[in-house]
Amino acid sequence: MDLFGQIYRRRSQHRFRETEKLSDDELRSVSETISAAVPLDSSIRTETAIVPASETSCKLGAEYCILFYSEKKGDWLRNVGYIGEQIDLSLTAQSIGTLWYGFGKTKEKKRNGLDFVIMIAISKVPADSFRVSPSQAKRKPVEKTWNGGLLSIAETVSLAPSAVNTQPWYAEFEKGTVRIFRNAKNLLMPSTVTDYFNRIDIGIYLCILEVCFSHVGIAYKRQLFSDIKKSKEVMILAASYELSAGEGQIRRITGYEDDMRSVSYSLDSGAAADLETGEMIRRLETYYGSFEWKVDFQSDEAGLLPPDLKRGVLSEDGINELLDRYRCLTGVAD
Ligand SMILES: Cc1cc2nc3c(=O)[nH]c(=O)nc-3n(C[C@H](O)[C@H](O)[C@H](O)COP(=O)(O)O)c2cc1C
Repeated sequence: MDLFGQIYRRRSQHRFRETEKLSDDELRSVSETISAAVPLDSSIRTETAIVPASETSCKLGAEYCILFYSEKKGDWLRNVGYIGEQIDLSLTAQSIGTLWYGFGKTKEKKRNGLDFVIMIAISKVPADSFRVSPSQAKRKPVEKTWNGGLLSIAETVSLAPSAVNTQPWYAEFEKGTVRIFRNAKNLLMPSTVTDYFNRIDIGIYLCILEVCFSHVGIAYKRQLFSDIKKSKEVMILAASYELSAGEGQIRRITGYEDDMRSVSYSLDSGAAADLETGEMIRRLETYYGSFEWKVDFQSDEAGLLPPDLKRGVLSEDGINELLDRYRCLTGVAD
């Protein structure tokens, strides 16, 4: 399931309002969503439980809380963040409101030998409880958290939620590789609390980053780095992603390139007004204004595309000229 659109919609329901009870079917779907989430590290044992919010310290109006338990092994906090964010986005797609609730407590501190890590409070909420524009999210300017190209991806990933909105990530994109750091310099909370939550935040960020890459068809090789020792470093390397144009991205660019050539041929041969040409023009116009075009353009700038890939459609002049020619010949104004 492509969860990309949910990155823009999701928001923390700090107060769950006008909630409705989840039906049995909906609750079953929540369980399936939880089961479908994949870990970053499958060698770490984890479990989840869905419990009525009344059985926890959550007094924010949510109906249930999803409790996360984990073995304290390796990068277990990052792993829970990564798993939980898949659930957060999937539940948003089902119009179920969520809140990562770091300060939430439960009596059941252990489950099958695993330790309680964190909870996500959930409830069915009205449709207008979700974001309609990324500008509704308060985030650091993207230049503070990302260095290098692929800025459209950077802007989207910056919408990742984090404890107290600390956004403890820093990404460097260079020579086709993005390196993600945990920024351990944080004065908002005592450092043990910060370290705990910010490791979860990094897992969340990695999940959202991968959702973006998959959505646009960028292929990646992920390498994870251990972030478990006490370190004096301020920027702690958490992961790197070696990027390349994936099949999806190449297919998309080639498809629009073909459309561009066909339209160009039709215009040259005086067939500008036929239905097929009109449809291709509309497709090209939509692509040109899309997130995908920006990412394809930025991928080209970053040297991610194969050298022999035909990509006239990524030249701003080329596509503008074609659209102008079409409008002139058909009398269609923009
Ligand atoms: C690990 C984690 C713990 C959080 N804990 C709390 C919490 O205890 N109470 C709360 O109201 N919000 C909590 N939040 C929500 C953040 O405050 C919120 O994600 C952040 O302000 C960004 O806003 P947004 O999620 O609406 O985009 C937590 C978020 C994360 C990722």
